Amino acid sequence: MGRASLEKQPHEVAAMFDDVAERYDVTNDVLSLGRTRAWRKAVVRAVAPRPGERVLDLAAGTGTSSEPFRAAGADVVPCDFSLGMLRVGKRREPGLRFVAGDALRLPFADASFDAVTISFGLRNLVDPAAGLAEMARVTRPGGRLVVCEFSQPAWGPFRTVYVEYLMRALPPVARAVSSNPDAYVYLAESIRAWPDQRGLAALIGSTGWGRPEWQDLTGGIVALHRATRP
Ligand SMILES: C[S@@+](CC[C@H](N)C(=O)[O-])C[C@H]1O[C@@H](n2cnc3c(N)ncnc32)[C@H](O)[C@@H]1O
Repeated sequence: MGRASLEKQPHEVAAMFDDVAERYDVTNDVLSLGRTRAWRKAVVRAVAPRPGERVLDLAAGTGTSSEPFRAAGADVVPCDFSLGMLRVGKRREPGLRFVAGDALRLPFADASFDAVTISFGLRNLVDPAAGLAEMARVTRPGGRLVVCEFSQPAWGPFRTVYVEYLMRALPPVARAVSSNPDAYVYLAESIRAWPDQRGLAALIGSTGWGRPEWQDLTGGIVALHRATRP
């Protein structure tokens, strides 16, 4: 398929991920200069799942963000709407119970999870606010939300270098390693268009979540936002 514009349709987003599914994880490792593993560990620490807790990993893709939860003893449910990503995930992580579902109309009952997490997925939702409200619906009162998403480096000079990397270096590198380089031009543009840490905390606080707070990773390239279901 061609390139998805920033005003993306759900079927375009799903098709874009179907296209990159096979090489998704290796491309991520290269483009993030190997940082993804550390970011995923930080997500598990932030959720702090107790053994047996039910954790929804939304927009789980190939399950790479879900696997550390299983390893920590949580009852993790990876959910995504790209059948291509789910297929690759099922083959690579047969121990995970993948569920096909749309983040905007989750196939789960109210208050059925102890925690919900979404890594590098909220930015891709056609309506992130509606997605956050839907996540609040399926989380029990007192349950936790952890969002892991690209954000804005706090230190000006680093931010400048990073934006240069995103706009200039990332597309050619993606062309060399990915099956659909256009998807990574979209990645760079969607990161630039995404709210900063404070803006995302405000959005989370307006969608049924209490006490949003955040923590920067890798100087703010990524931020973890946490909140609790009142
Ligand atoms: C960048 S991948 C992240 C995958 C995984 N969480 C990770 O950290 O590697 C984003 C995922 O969001 C999924 N996605 C986008 N919109 C969605 C929606 N409305 N419902 C479910 N999944 C969605 C895509 O299919 C894709 O697999």
